[in-house]
Amino acid sequence: MKAIVIGGSGQIGGWLLRHLADRGHEAAGTFATVPYPGLHPLDASDREGAARWVREQRPDVVFYPAGFTYVDGCEADPARARASNREEPLNLARVTADLGARFVYFSTDYVFPGRDGPDAEDDAPDPPNAYGEAKLEAERAIAEALGDRLLIARTSWVYGPERQGKNFAYQVVRRLVGGEPVMVPSDQHSSPSYGPDVALATLRLVEEGHSGLFHVAGPEVVGRPAFARAIAEGFGLDPSPIGSKPTAELGQGARRPLRGGLATPRLDAALPGVMRPMSESIRDFLRRLDAGEGWGDPRARPAS
Ligand SMILES: NC(=O)c1ccc[n+]([C@@H]2O[C@H](COP(=O)([O-])OP(=O)(O)OC[C@H]3O[C@@H](n4cnc5c(N)ncnc54)[C@H](OP(=O)(O)O)[C@@H]3O)[C@@H](O)[C@H]2O)c1
Repeated sequence: MKAIVIGGSGQIGGWLLRHLADRGHEAAGTFATVPYPGLHPLDASDREGAARWVREQRPDVVFYPAGFTYVDGCEADPARARASNREEPLNLARVTADLGARFVYFSTDYVFPGRDGPDAEDDAPDPPNAYGEAKLEAERAIAEALGDRLLIARTSWVYGPERQGKNFAYQVVRRLVGGEPVMVPSDQHSSPSYGPDVALATLRLVEEGHSGLFHVAGPEVVGRPAFARAIAEGFGLDPSPIGSKPTAELGQGARRPLRGGLATPRLDAALPGVMRPMSESIRDFLRRLDAGEGWGDPRARPAS
């Protein structure tokens, strides 16, 4: 299979490229602003240039783990949220449809209001913020363009080794290693999802010919404080500097689902056990860092 990964410099995109290579597929990946060796520069807002590159690659499948993923930034700039998360992937989804190839779009549990999660694929979405609205609109518009050649993978709270070192686990470990307090929301619950497993599960769904909507998320629903403590303890760090406050007191720009998370009945039926529990994932995270697999190590840098 020839695959391209738009957003190969990102967290999930990096793991997709690694798994694609390990599983013997031909793959090309892109970056927008953070270059890595072997990645092609592509800004999806240059719609004609992006379309041209995708056509030249003649892919069998286009993975799109890209977009404007900063949730509070989307709230402040809903036009950018919509352009980056809906219009730009839709442009490349149409190119993909013309090529007769398959398209994989990554979406979020923030399409749900988070009143009584975890939510399954059949539950009714009702996004609480601009990011979730743009992602839901994208899901619908891309589904119209691609029909059964589309796979949508909704995920949540992705963590694990990543080159850019941005995810929640890196933030917690860096602050604890740097002797700084960690303040997290006391009342936000979701499904921590291990990045290497999210990428592998999605790739295996593609390999096995699945299409449609799948929730691709870890098996536990936890609160942010428990998630932060699990990371600290897994890394052998004292969790006592981890404090928590209600969301209402944190001044986050965008509304957050409080009882969120994703139930994964379709994934459980298709690929049982592919998403490992948190304790096992954190052990794998450490094992990969200790093996020096080339990803950033949050223990190496004190918090700035
Ligand atoms: N992380 C989570 O907890 C989470 C939860 C739910 C859903 N998701 C979804 O999963 C997907 C992947 O998330 P992630 O955490 O891997 O994201 P990420 O680490 O923030 O990576 C985003 C990627 O998009 C690229 N990108 C940004 N603007 C672009 C543009 N204009 N043109 C082309 N590429 C562009 C970035 O390139 P540069 O870095 O080179 O600029 C980067 O490679 C996203 O669609 C997100 O909505 C993530």
